[in-house]
Amino acid sequence: MTLARQHRIQVVAHRGASEEAPEHTLAAYKKAIEDGADALECDVRLTADGHLVCVHDRRVNRTSNGRGAVSALELADLAALDFGSWKARDNRDSWKTRDEEPDWEHLPEDPEDREDTSVLTLERLLELVADAGRRVELAIETKHPTRWAGQVEERLLVLLKRFGLDAPATAADSPVRVMSFSARSLHRVRAASPTLPTVYLLQFLSPRLRDGRLPAGVRIAGPSIRIVRNHPAYIERLKNAGHQVHVWTVNEPEDVDLCVDLGIDAIITNRPRAVLSQLGRG
Ligand code: G3P
Ligand code: CA
Repeated sequence: MTLARQHRIQVVAHRGASEEAPEHTLAAYKKAIEDGADALECDVRLTADGHLVCVHDRRVNRTSNGRGAVSALELADLAALDFGSWKARDNRDSWKTRDEEPDWEHLPEDPEDREDTSVLTLERLLELVADAGRRVELAIETKHPTRWAGQVEERLLVLLKRFGLDAPATAADSPVRVMSFSARSLHRVRAASPTLPTVYLLQFLSPRLRDGRLPAGVRIAGPSIRIVRNHPAYIERLKNAGHQVHVWTVNEPEDVDLCVDLGIDAIITNRPRAVLSQLGRG
């Protein structure tokens, strides 16, 4: 057994169990918890009336039956939309292993079911995690931090405080971490809450980052799987510098193996059930 295989890799459900269920919906996160994911990843954006909602794209066009930028819509506008049907059309095959295929074409009458494919607020996701009955961590990614000049982080910390999650005793204790491609966004979070862990996301490896240094105070690197495949020596440098490494988005079995061999700390995947099973935890 290699050293890398001795530590337990955290399996993080990217946008929920988003291969099977519509991303960023309660349905996707419930499925991820049911599948045994250690943590849930979500992107957060601010609505026009100041609510943090879990939506990846700037606009709602791809993942709902509506149109427009999240930042230009109020929560009530978003709540009228269906964030589930698009997935059934795009990916109907993923439901074939189930006994019963959900009828995503029409909104269910039952308000509880309707909630499963409505816009998801971060507050509702925090409630789901609090009620999970086991420790489920949350990796929250701040989107559009520049446009709102600090408001995303401010609202995020207010919400985390309401759940008693804003000021963990130590970073290791924290079930929540904040991720961003923006060093400025992470800096704002750390300035307000120094013990809340932050993850610096990297899509490409620019020359100025190759020495393995991260923005001041950041202990976790979040490289893309492409960086991991192409620059394993960089991953080693990060590890040698004492950083944790959380990799996205790892869906292929050979990439899971690579992450295990390199001693990666967390795998962020659309397929938590498949990855857990490959790791012998399914
Ligand atoms: O987990 C990090 C990853 O989600 C970053 O990329 O575009 O999926 O938010 P994106
Ligand atoms: Ca993300």
